[in-house]
Amino acid sequence: MSASSVTYKVQPGGGLSGTVRVPGDKSISHRAVMLGALAEGTTEVSGFLNGEDCLCTMKAFQAMGVRVEQLGATSLRVHGVGLRGLSAPKSELDLGNSGTSMRLMAGLMSGQRFPTTLIGDESLSRRPMKRIIEPLAQMGARIESNEGKAPLRIHPVAGLKGISYRSPVASAQVKSGVLLAGLYAEGRTEVFEPEASRDHTERMLQSFGVAVEAERGRAALRGGQALKGTHIAVPADISSATFFMVGAAIVPGAQVLLTEVGINPTRIGVIEVLRRMGADIELTDERRFGAEPVADIRIKGGSLKGIAIDRELVAAAIDEFPAIFVAAACAQGETEVSGAEELRVKESDRIQAMCDGLAALGIAAQPKPDGARIVGGRIKGGTVDSKGDHRVAMSFAMAALRAEQPIAILDCANVNTSFPGFAELARQAGLRIAGG
Ligand code: S3P
Repeated sequence: MSASSVTYKVQPGGGLSGTVRVPGDKSISHRAVMLGALAEGTTEVSGFLNGEDCLCTMKAFQAMGVRVEQLGATSLRVHGVGLRGLSAPKSELDLGNSGTSMRLMAGLMSGQRFPTTLIGDESLSRRPMKRIIEPLAQMGARIESNEGKAPLRIHPVAGLKGISYRSPVASAQVKSGVLLAGLYAEGRTEVFEPEASRDHTERMLQSFGVAVEAERGRAALRGGQALKGTHIAVPADISSATFFMVGAAIVPGAQVLLTEVGINPTRIGVIEVLRRMGADIELTDERRFGAEPVADIRIKGGSLKGIAIDRELVAAAIDEFPAIFVAAACAQGETEVSGAEELRVKESDRIQAMCDGLAALGIAAQPKPDGARIVGGRIKGGTVDSKGDHRVAMSFAMAALRAEQPIAILDCANVNTSFPGFAELARQAGLRIAGG
């Protein structure tokens, strides 16, 4: 099926209810395979996300000689080969739509004794890679690119050296790519970032026995440390849970319980945003899956109000803005998002894609270079283009809960990158969705 041939048709109205367990966290699933591959001994991963992005990571490591056993529907055993045990792949590594795979692996591959070429789909090939190439070049890596974009041709070098890097962007992908290169570097590698991005790499490296200094906005490690195989239990992805949180929050009377959701402090900006908008959200049974905190999240629908969302809240909610834009469209008054220019370089330009789609549905949504102004109102229904962006597609699907007419969403195949089974799960919870 071609990437653009999946259309969601969502009938207006309905309401979400029940208990929902969304699939595993994408960021943690990628890292579990990568670190498991580099470890000595085996790593069992449970709750793994079988989304296309994480499967690209898995296939890339298989192509470099790592054996991955499927133990069950969402559990794997990764047979680690050690820091120096990867072998040269026979061809380019195709990372599909996955920015995380490309930026983290750019770091990892820079430390190898063989060359690799990282390629991606049309969307990934448009995304900025200079942000990772530059610090890696400072470490001594040799990476050729297409003017700062994929394909990335990574050449072996005699050795990398540790650096102290001040990243101009709050990006976990940049931070993680540099830290992973740092495992191969001489001395210490340190990254500072302007806002704290997600810290799954730091936490997971520690689970694999690596000494990492980690605090808000800074992470550092010494090169040459061995990883030891472990067990990683992947929490449900808060970014996938967000569609159900917003879907419940915008319909008075709705109620959903989302179970085993990762509530890492660097990821829960969406809870803070929705609470500030007036949503009724309760966290229960807080516990840990290894190094990661999890909870069950109960959301009750009610009326939301527009708010100002500034830079301080952006990094911890970065992937949730498409859904937050839908919440804003259903709120009373204006929501203004600022300091979120990173949204323009995600799988699509999410500011433009969301404002265009909301406008097509009858909502006043004005893009700004670093965010948008959205005035809550009546969602009429109509056709929107997801631009091949999974999170844009799922956000507009939830908008139908408050629409007056059906919503057709074009180009939804990429929902499978992060949330296989979305339409089915959403249907079971009460969304009147067909297609996909
Ligand atoms: C991710 C980091 C974020 C996020 C992406 C996953 C990760 O990107 O948007 O979906 O797993 O490290 P940036 O690091 O570019 O902000």
